[in-house]
Amino acid sequence: MKILVTGGTGFIGSHTVVELQNKGYEVIIVDNLSNSGSDIVDKIAQITGITPVLEIFDLTDKQKTSDFFKRHNDIAGIIHFAAYKAVGESVQKPLLYYHNNLESLINILDGMNENGIRNLVFSSSCTVYGQPDELPVSENAPVKAAESPYGNTKQISEEIIYDSVKALGINAIALRYFNPIGAHPSALIGELPIGVPNNLVPFITQTAIGIRQCLSVFGDTYPTPDGTAIRDYIHVVDLAKAHVISVDRMIDGKMKENFEVFNLGTGNGYSVLEVIKSFEKVSGLKLNYKIVDRREGDITQVWADPEYSNRELGWKAEKSIDEMTLSAWKWEKALQQNKSK
Ligand code: WQD
Repeated sequence: MKILVTGGTGFIGSHTVVELQNKGYEVIIVDNLSNSGSDIVDKIAQITGITPVLEIFDLTDKQKTSDFFKRHNDIAGIIHFAAYKAVGESVQKPLLYYHNNLESLINILDGMNENGIRNLVFSSSCTVYGQPDELPVSENAPVKAAESPYGNTKQISEEIIYDSVKALGINAIALRYFNPIGAHPSALIGELPIGVPNNLVPFITQTAIGIRQCLSVFGDTYPTPDGTAIRDYIHVVDLAKAHVISVDRMIDGKMKENFEVFNLGTGNGYSVLEVIKSFEKVSGLKLNYKIVDRREGDITQVWADPEYSNRELGWKAEKSIDEMTLSAWKWEKALQQNKSK
């Protein structure tokens, strides 16, 4: 069966393509390569032995997207990753985010409607919860006013999908990620931040390998045990596997509602200092970091209640924080070795 993976050359997308191929699915990727490179398909092929088809165009282009679906009306399901996701950038350029993230989704829904494609997995985010009132946070926790235009595009996208499932007669699953980190054990694919990393773990590994001088820890006066903010970090391979399970669920007709939402987290929260400690343990290195002011828009703490995903999806995150930081470190070292070739 053919699965369309939009944004499939990106961080989570590429790891999901690997797991889809491992499960026997035929994969076609649509990507505009705005945040990744076409060589990722060769890396995927090195891992799985199968080169996914890659079509390069922008999903905000209505005509190109419509033409694509006419040429591929045998798609059994779509996993939609393609979106801009830098929180800070979205504050600087809100319209860029609303145009890109919402128009691409709407064009995909139109394509599904015009070609009888019935299954959609949507890449959402725990950011929709803001700072939850209760922890751990479960799927029925209230969605709060978004802290950024990026987060708002995820909320609005979920609402657009919710309103469309009945009208279009489609099935949709929104997967709310917590903090995806790490890399495939082969160290052939992983996170490839362009420019200065926004996220914690790539900044840690780039500091350790010498690309960055010093990691800035954004605040240590939060009301948490060690004063630094807490997040639910989840290995990208564990996350990828949940997408395959979601596609299986829709195709096998196991859904209980037309629109389902699942939190994808481990249920364990780790502070910034605890992630640093894990990295130092697995790498054997002392990380150069300093405490600075808080980052605008950061919440204090969030971690998932994964019970519903564990029970209903039959999925559970397996990898420990040390396995996550070690895989990220192996990937960073492989990246640097390839650069020096
Ligand atoms: C983690 C912690 C920072 C960098 C974002 C998105 C979220 C999701 C995951 C897409 C925080 C601290 C970070 C640094 C630091 N993305 N930090 N120094 O902000 O929790 O979530 O990525 O779905 O939607 O918002 O992730 O990795 O940026 O930060 O101290 O140089 O590390 O303050 O406490 P975040 P992050």
